[in-house]
Amino acid sequence: MFQKKSIGLLLNKNVLSKLKHISVRNVQISVIGAVGEVGANLALLLKQNLKLQKLNLYDDDEKNIGAAMELGHLPGGPQVSGFTGVNGLHAAVRGSELVVMAQRVPRKPGNSREQMIAANAPAMQRLCRAIADENPGAFLAISTNPLNSMVPFASALLYKYGAYNPFKVFGVTHIDSARARIYAAHALQVSCRNLFLPVIGGHSDDTVIPLFSNICPSEYTIDPCQADTLTRLVRKSGTEIVFQKQGCESAVLGMAWSLNEFCNLMIEAICGGEVVVNCYTANPHFGTRFFSGPTVIGPYGIIRACCEFTYSDYESFLVTASVPVINRDVTLGEEYVRYIEFAMKPKY
Ligand code: LMR
Repeated sequence: MFQKKSIGLLLNKNVLSKLKHISVRNVQISVIGAVGEVGANLALLLKQNLKLQKLNLYDDDEKNIGAAMELGHLPGGPQVSGFTGVNGLHAAVRGSELVVMAQRVPRKPGNSREQMIAANAPAMQRLCRAIADENPGAFLAISTNPLNSMVPFASALLYKYGAYNPFKVFGVTHIDSARARIYAAHALQVSCRNLFLPVIGGHSDDTVIPLFSNICPSEYTIDPCQADTLTRLVRKSGTEIVFQKQGCESAVLGMAWSLNEFCNLMIEAICGGEVVVNCYTANPHFGTRFFSGPTVIGPYGIIRACCEFTYSDYESFLVTASVPVINRDVTLGEEYVRYIEFAMKPKY
């Protein structure tokens, strides 16, 4: 059984692994969609990472070359290279340990994440082709919606291209754990700094499952009524931002922050550490092929996907209700491969 204490230990390991000095390697990260608002903010955050040796920025938009040059003028951090155009994507992913997919068409008010698959799948397809051709051993981190379908879509494509490693493909869901921590801290009127809780399920309005009953430290408790309210808030956060930004964008800074947190931890893992990241990955333990939650990662990929938790009755209900939704989303992503591969030939 995954007990409260062990979650605390797992999550605190993140902090410990940050403090521990692990052998420095020449880590290289590629950010795809670097001119978009998420990608540009992520690039700026990563430029400040002293453990990163090289940062490759790719965007279809030719402005990317100037943006990369601009970042390159800032002292410290990784060496920055900009790529664009037909062969640029292949060059951009070559040699990177981690490729981060930040390219996306942002959601508009009234759209669900699921409706974004047609808009976002072609770019994902091109990236999978480039990874399969140039760098099949790379970790792939995806933030593009609909995450519940996009990770299975990318996995199925990589499988088709002979380059799928289920231990190395992630949907980044740090944004959900960040939101859950913030709402819980507000409700408890404590600092969120040392407050942790697992967030599992998927990444959509009806599949994010914050496990408030597993909150750590265990002296804090959220009652079932509060848990219901806070769960609704966490689930609606992304959609509320889309609405409040009046159709211009969805969450940008939060997404960049959460990708940067994920990248920081992944650099530790790539350098030989063991870290816990919140991500949506291949995971057979919940009656779906993909599931999200705190996942232990090492230099070669997933060491331990999340499996068992203790649930309140409410959380148990949420897990049961989310399983058919995630299964539907996974199938949508996997079946989209057939559509995109035969109906639409990749441009390059
Ligand atoms: C979020 O949760 O904020 C992201 O998935 C972006 C979006 O479209 O909601």
